[in-house]
Amino acid sequence: MKIGILGTGQVAQGIAAKLSERGHQIKVGSRTGEHTKGKEWVENLENASLASYEKATRFGEMIFNCVAGVGVLDALKLAGKDNFENKILVDVSNPLDFSKGMPPSLFVGSDDSLAEQIQRALPSAKVVKVLNTLNVELMVNPSSLPGEHNLFMAGDNEDAKKEVCRLLTKDFGWPDKAILDLGDISAARGTEAAVLLWVRLWTKFQNHKFNFHIVVDPKTKR
Ligand SMILES: NC(=O)c1ccc[n+]([C@@H]2O[C@H](COP(=O)([O-])OP(=O)(O)OC[C@H]3O[C@@H](n4cnc5c(N)ncnc54)[C@H](OP(=O)(O)O)[C@@H]3O)[C@@H](O)[C@H]2O)c1
Repeated sequence: MKIGILGTGQVAQGIAAKLSERGHQIKVGSRTGEHTKGKEWVENLENASLASYEKATRFGEMIFNCVAGVGVLDALKLAGKDNFENKILVDVSNPLDFSKGMPPSLFVGSDDSLAEQIQRALPSAKVVKVLNTLNVELMVNPSSLPGEHNLFMAGDNEDAKKEVCRLLTKDFGWPDKAILDLGDISAARGTEAAVLLWVRLWTKFQNHKFNFHIVVDPKTKR
């Protein structure tokens, strides 16, 4: 599949490397779209190139949003609203505000989420929030953490969520039952806020190799 990845940080790198290894064609979008220092990694991947946000979005049949939270809405504007029409936008970003240092706060209130802001900005896109509650190494290599652990998903379009589940199981190696669909896109309010807890756990463990595991009474309908 042709996949556009917006952002060039750690998350974009990890996701691009895994998708390229799995045989997808990748275009990574950055603000300048230029081969500046620190972005040479793109050239080392099979079937991958660096471009502007706009070109990466036009290219992708599916798009991953891996931009720093504060820059997401501006990045989507640069990418061009029309280029997202009817496409799945996998939103991995978090609305973290580091302006007062560590630990960060959220720049959205508890009655909104960055994922909902994205869906409102791009009404014709199918936004699927997922992967934002764990470190990138585990996102693309879940079995590197022993035992069961979960991913949380939210989105308004059921078919889009199913398609993203297929990619996460087939290409990233997530067991189907590990992916918990929490419902419509407003469920991202909870999964984005969970990142505040993630940061505190990371501070305690001084290591990012951990994840959430939800233990449910076996009699409960899932
Ligand atoms: N690190 C993780 O393991 C992890 C885990 C879960 C979720 N997330 C979320 O995933 C997203 C990416 O995280 P990351 O750690 O890979 O990198 P990051 O440092 O949070 O983001 C870097 C990317 O954001 C882009 N960006 C665009 N507009 C920006 C602006 N106004 N200010 C700052 N950056 C801007 C940069 O673009 P250019 O390429 O043009 O410089 C750069 O590629 C974030 O939203 C983060 O919260 C991260």
